[in-house]
Amino acid sequence: MTVTNSLRISTLAIFITACHSIQMSPPTTTTTLPTPSMVTAFTTRVMSENMPTVVPVMCADATSTSSPLGKLRSAMRNKSYTQMNIFFDAFLIFYSDEHLSEEPSPEERRLEYFSGWDGAGTAAVLSDGGAAVWVSSGDLRRARATLSCAWEVLDGDDVNQPTIPEWIAERLGRSGRIGADARLTSVKEWQALSTDLQQVGLQLIHTPTMLDQLWNEELDPARRRPDFSKIVAVLHNTDYTGVTWRDKVSTVRNELRAIGADAMVVTSLDEVAWLLNIRGKDLPYAPLLKAFVIVSTRDVRVYAPPGKLSMPVREALAVYNCFNNNCTRVNDYNNIYSDLRRASENKILIPAAGTFQRGASAAIAQSVPQAKRVFLLSPIIYLKAQKNEAESNGMTKAHLRDAVAMCTLLSYLEGRRGTSQSEMSISKTVEVTRETQAGFVGLSMKTRVAFGPNGADPYYVPTILTNRRVFPNSTLIIRSGGQYDEGTTVVTRTLHYGKPSRDESKAYTTVLRSLAALSTLQPPASLPAAHADPAARAPLWAHRQDYPHPTGHGVGAALNRHEDPVVIDYRQDVILHPFREGYYITVEPGWYEGMKFGVQLGNVLEVISKPSGYIGFREATLIPFEPKLIDKNMLTDYEINWLNAYNDRIRKVVGPELKAQGLTDVYYWMSNKTVPMQLPSKFKKMNTNSATTNSCKQIFTTVIVIIFANCFI
Ligand SMILES: *[C@@H]1O[C@H](CO)[C@@H](O)[C@H](O)[C@H]1NC(C)=O
Ligand SMILES: *[C@@H]1O[C@H](CO)[C@@H](O)[C@H](O)[C@H]1NC(C)=O
Ligand SMILES: *[C@@H]1O[C@H](CO)[C@@H](O)[C@H](O)[C@H]1NC(C)=O
Ligand SMILES: *[C@@H]1O[C@H](CO)[C@@H](O)[C@H](O)[C@H]1NC(C)=O
Repeated sequence: MTVTNSLRISTLAIFITACHSIQMSPPTTTTTLPTPSMVTAFTTRVMSENMPTVVPVMCADATSTSSPLGKLRSAMRNKSYTQMNIFFDAFLIFYSDEHLSEEPSPEERRLEYFSGWDGAGTAAVLSDGGAAVWVSSGDLRRARATLSCAWEVLDGDDVNQPTIPEWIAERLGRSGRIGADARLTSVKEWQALSTDLQQVGLQLIHTPTMLDQLWNEELDPARRRPDFSKIVAVLHNTDYTGVTWRDKVSTVRNELRAIGADAMVVTSLDEVAWLLNIRGKDLPYAPLLKAFVIVSTRDVRVYAPPGKLSMPVREALAVYNCFNNNCTRVNDYNNIYSDLRRASENKILIPAAGTFQRGASAAIAQSVPQAKRVFLLSPIIYLKAQKNEAESNGMTKAHLRDAVAMCTLLSYLEGRRGTSQSEMSISKTVEVTRETQAGFVGLSMKTRVAFGPNGADPYYVPTILTNRRVFPNSTLIIRSGGQYDEGTTVVTRTLHYGKPSRDESKAYTTVLRSLAALSTLQPPASLPAAHADPAARAPLWAHRQDYPHPTGHGVGAALNRHEDPVVIDYRQDVILHPFREGYYITVEPGWYEGMKFGVQLGNVLEVISKPSGYIGFREATLIPFEPKLIDKNMLTDYEINWLNAYNDRIRKVVGPELKAQGLTDVYYWMSNKTVPMQLPSKFKKMNTNSATTNSCKQIFTTVIVIIFANCFI
């Protein structure tokens, strides 16, 4: 710690000296910090660590008036946009949609339109110049490479960097108004921003229309706001739901009764889809419909954009002549806010943030009269995570289809030894191959292929600028997943098209051992998922290796790839939910060898019950590992037995399906990748194993007896 700190300080000192010699005028920060409270809050950091961020960057983009950024700046001072008699000194742009989806649809990507950054993050734009985007540390490198010089890129995970309120306060001083759309951020984030800004005399104002109005006016075809998808939502096959929407609603009502609420707002799109047994196509990586639902003891209200529910859905939901609590009333999507304001219920559950489910937006929460608000995790999180038999069967089918697609892809790539391919062309091949499977609906994630040094970055996503050609001299990581009618899959495999180096084999085998460690773990059912993490990481830790991401998380059934409540990560001690039978989780350990190569392996596991209050796991993913990369000498007998059993299941389950689909080449490829591995200690055992020795003795005795017997005849 001290070493890094002093290093950092000396580097900064050099940086600051450099800045001072370049700047013509003294830094403005000292003059824009007018109050003692602000000085105590920010000086140390502002004066030392973050000097570099205060240096103004000048480029055409920063001052352009015709860019989206420039137009936003002028709109902040124009009444026909602010729609109030006020101007804004700064405006915030959030990343998500009104449901706080992890991966919003194209027409919701306001942050990308205004900044050019397509990942998650938050931007702040000053009317007088200056703009910054806060991203997670994993995205920092890519954001810096993507964004124009008009934008500062700040690390939202680094406590030493200014927060959004600090950054704005540094530049605006004591008074000012900051606009933002409260529909697009969580209650918690909004409140934190609002409080911090208020402390320095700045006011955060909910302004729902300005960004949309600007984007809707865009004429440049390349930047124009995409149309909202017109594809209607359909019923989710009853074979894969297992429970009717009426039974689900009744379970939710019981949960609400238990906590003393008489209604809840369902804001998360996967919860809406799960509850109503419907699926849509409104999001890029999940089969969801953009809609809100209010479940109360008296009725069920669905807020969907017009024309988005198919006839069968309307019939199933009994939307016609609905006058009791056993049917649904369909309202316009935008009426949710006004309806909540005048809701007749007394206590309304507003979903609080989980991990991937970010809870209700600030605008939803603020629409509910204060005395009626009950902030709690949505009970649907737990109901949805625990798959019933029908959902499990669906997941099994989806993983079988996915195994066929992935085996086809991997054998094809191996046939070409990966050559004359690039990361991006392989991504395309992955997607095209999945599409060949029946029941394919879409991707469950952006396909992420990384070769060689790119694989050393756990968050790497290939772009035109970084796209590498694939050669037979390093590892290739393929992370991908599919959405099928029946279920959701995600899988990671690491490959090599030449002769792996010893380091590469060591890394691969260690990651495989980590994966095996969690897959074979049989903990008491009460063990918090996060506490299982050390067991998974132990093989890597023994080599002084760790990875910055969680080991695993929940997976939805024909829903989101990331699902609450399970997060397997030793670094968080907030979510300590145990595994439950019927949960689906991922295990995705990795070894990232700085600037050289990377290895990651990922499977989906089903949580199964074991006797006496214990649980265990069973692989849902049935796709071979790469034998060439496995150093057998590093594996224990226990691990070899696990691997052999896994391979045996692949042969028995995937084999017949490959044959049935007429994929003979792929079948042979799969058979060759799943050849049982000999236990290295087997030969040794032959000599010492008493059973073997005994049976030898027996044979020997029998032979002697027979010989003797013959002699006497
Ligand atoms: C405000 O915006 C409107 C609509 O784009 C525009 O016609 C008008 O000129 C703007 N006013 C100023 C003062 O820029
Ligand atoms: C609700 O509706 C379903 C289907 O119309 C019906 O079978 C059920 O009996 C109804 N339940 C109540 C409590 O009205
Ligand atoms: C792999 O081979 C390519 C092409 O020959 C070469 O450019 C690259 O530097 C090699 N990488 C390593 C790690 O040896
Ligand atoms: C089977 O795998 C081995 C190595 O694992 C390889 O040498 C061999 O060429 C493969 N055979 C076929 C038919 O793919």
